[in-house]
Amino acid sequence: MLSRVHEVLAPSNIALIKYWGKRDAALQIPANDSLSMTLATAFTCTRAAVAESPSLTSAHGALGSKAERHLAFLKAELGFDAPLAITTKNSFPAACGIASSASGLAALTIAAIAAWTGASSFDELAVAGFSRARLANLARRGSGSACRSLYGGYVQWHADTQDVSVTLPPDHWQLADIIVVLSDAPKAVSSTDAHAGAWASPLFAPRLAGLPERLAQVRGALVKRDLAALGDAIEIEALEMHAVMMSGQPAANYFTASTSRFLCWLREERRAGRLAAWFTIDAGPNVHLICEAADSEHISKAVELAFPEARLIRDHTGHGPTLRTLATEDVR
Ligand code: DP6
Repeated sequence: MLSRVHEVLAPSNIALIKYWGKRDAALQIPANDSLSMTLATAFTCTRAAVAESPSLTSAHGALGSKAERHLAFLKAELGFDAPLAITTKNSFPAACGIASSASGLAALTIAAIAAWTGASSFDELAVAGFSRARLANLARRGSGSACRSLYGGYVQWHADTQDVSVTLPPDHWQLADIIVVLSDAPKAVSSTDAHAGAWASPLFAPRLAGLPERLAQVRGALVKRDLAALGDAIEIEALEMHAVMMSGQPAANYFTASTSRFLCWLREERRAGRLAAWFTIDAGPNVHLICEAADSEHISKAVELAFPEARLIRDHTGHGPTLRTLATEDVR
């Protein structure tokens, strides 16, 4: 059948204050507010069109069962029943161990709803009843961190209301995120399982109690463009989340020997005044180096020299997802 193809590019995001632990796993209600920077070069491209029969082709097999489940949820929740032909691929290499569920589930949500409603822009989606806020709310149900990928710049997901808001636009401060891929081995404990383990950690309650203050520090450092203050806060934040992970039930240990070696090297280089970059780490062994965009080149070179085995993905603050309609195709 002849059908219009809707194409979404949705970026990944890196959390500066982490979403870790859920108050309600079924409804995807987080235990705490989180704040991320939307990225630009690490994104998922998803195309969707109404078709005769449903299909979901994922170039890297990256989306897997989360995508199927989320599509079923969207259909049931919104009452659409037209079958969709969907293809999806990531801009970053297959199985490189960086999070793809945020960009993947954000792209899938927007592309599927665009195909069902026939919308070819965010304005048309809003007219059809799908404001960006509603899309973020729906994307959240597929993967929590996906709701932050609906917006550009520095984005906060509020735990009490589930609202997602832009703290600062991308042009306020262009930061680089150099993703240092140290290992692409599959995770022993999925992040979804590990979220559930957080409540058993004795470190979780004190973490939740201290987070509002750290969030205020991060927001303040972003407003003032104070990289050292931001860096200190995000390193403590990542280390605290990993301490909760390691002491949870099930315990999840995402640090590897090379992660630790990298952090020691980075802190020594920084102490010696050779580079101004700070780390954050998600549910995996790989390190995100946050630095001024202008320093990204020389810092990447220093990393390549010290860790020739690492693969680098150089990213920066981005503007959020895009949606467009391609030419009509014969879709089966
Ligand atoms: C460590 O969003 O992947 O990256 O909601 O179960 O899909 P689900 O979890 P997910 O968790 C992300 C955890 C994190 C921190 C963050 O992105 O805030």
